[in-house]
Amino acid sequence: MKTKPVDTAQDDETAFVYQQKFSVPYHYPVAFMRGLFDPAKGLFAEIVAGDEADKRHRCFFIIDEGLADLDLDQKIATYFDAHSEKLELIAAPMRVPGGEVVKKDLAHVERMQSAIHTHAIDRHSYVIAIGGGAVLDAVGLAAATSHRGVRHIRIPTTVLSQNDSGVGVKNAVNFKGIKNYIGTFAPPWAVLSDFDFLKSLPRAERVAGIAEAVKVALIRDRDFYLWLEENVDALATFQPQAEEYMVRRSAELHMHQIAQGGDPFEMGSARPLDFGHWSAHKLEALTNHHVRHGEAVAIGIALDARYSVLSGLLPEGEDERVVVLLETLGFRIFHPALESRDASGRLALLVGLDEFQEHLGGELTITLLSELGTGFEVHSMDGEIVQQSLSWLKARENR
Ligand SMILES: NC(=O)c1ccc[n+]([C@@H]2O[C@H](COP(=O)([O-])OP(=O)(O)OC[C@H]3O[C@@H](n4cnc5c(N)ncnc54)[C@H](O)[C@@H]3O)[C@@H](O)[C@H]2O)c1
Ligand SMILES: [Zn+2]
Repeated sequence: MKTKPVDTAQDDETAFVYQQKFSVPYHYPVAFMRGLFDPAKGLFAEIVAGDEADKRHRCFFIIDEGLADLDLDQKIATYFDAHSEKLELIAAPMRVPGGEVVKKDLAHVERMQSAIHTHAIDRHSYVIAIGGGAVLDAVGLAAATSHRGVRHIRIPTTVLSQNDSGVGVKNAVNFKGIKNYIGTFAPPWAVLSDFDFLKSLPRAERVAGIAEAVKVALIRDRDFYLWLEENVDALATFQPQAEEYMVRRSAELHMHQIAQGGDPFEMGSARPLDFGHWSAHKLEALTNHHVRHGEAVAIGIALDARYSVLSGLLPEGEDERVVVLLETLGFRIFHPALESRDASGRLALLVGLDEFQEHLGGELTITLLSELGTGFEVHSMDGEIVQQSLSWLKARENR
């Protein structure tokens, strides 16, 4: 370790400042399959066992109540019986409410921490979450804060959590009405996405997640964007091959950003993958989360695509193309709440821009588009152009 003496000129004393430095290489498998708990398939047992194949691994499941109809307790028990040389199910799965409900009240996280304690989950046992992004976020937090972090496996069950949030390194719950206020950066032990779960998703939920694939294609991968356009009908009708490729390619692009983007724990103020998100966050808040995240992101994408055209970054007509894709998938591209104004008469959306900057914790960085497939970062937004973009979306929706 190097020491760097610093001369404190005033009192002629020397301070010793040691530069502590180490890095921790993170790696975890992100797998896509069908039939995860089919006893004939060994993938789950192998991933849990890792390179410790000669012992039994203690597992505790926490499951989204939205999956109540799938008879998961029985399927998991049968799977563990079939792989009992590697796996030990230490208790019946715990159920927690799905969706934002589980993130709104810290009591749910505390209940999970209590169960982790009661079942003596140590740092070599596994807490396994099955559910949508909200449940994964809350369980991830409980796992990361029990014993300063127990092994945590995520089994995402929505399109959005399979193609975006589930592959990441963050968890959080809401606090005093502030979204994702209490949370940590804690990479999972593994992410296992079983496409079979998507079949029970309500239609609106299944469409909503596609917005994140459109988002990441627009800023990172033109070929993928063109593929989405070509396969829009297959995607809108959930044809398995198209849906699976959309989920996998989107997840790959998100994984690439986390691993190669240079800022996995978001120390800087850019959020390169938050294209379309600054207005989406505000719309979700304005509608008290009645508009789903993916639905809000679709509107945010349309708004920022139009803004990109009006500010001269993107050729005229490309915005229309994006809107046609979103609408064919089943999204709306306008919501009246976007026009609401605060007490001083200011467009709530522009207040949202300030809030987004605060959320970034530094310089405002917004990703726009310079072509379909290439993001372009700007550090200011023109309120007048935001207003014009909004008017365009409204006129287009009502025509
Ligand atoms: N950690 C991150 O990096 C990150 C990133 C983006 C979003 N998120 C979070 O993800 C959450 C949204 O997650 P989401 O879009 O996955 O939805 P969700 O978790 O809110 O779930 C939506 C609904 O679907 C139900 N459900 C889940 N899987 C189901 C299935 N297979 N069949 C039937 N019903 C099912 C749930 O019970 C819930 O009622 C938000 O809280 C958001 O903040 C986290
Ligand atoms: Zn998102």
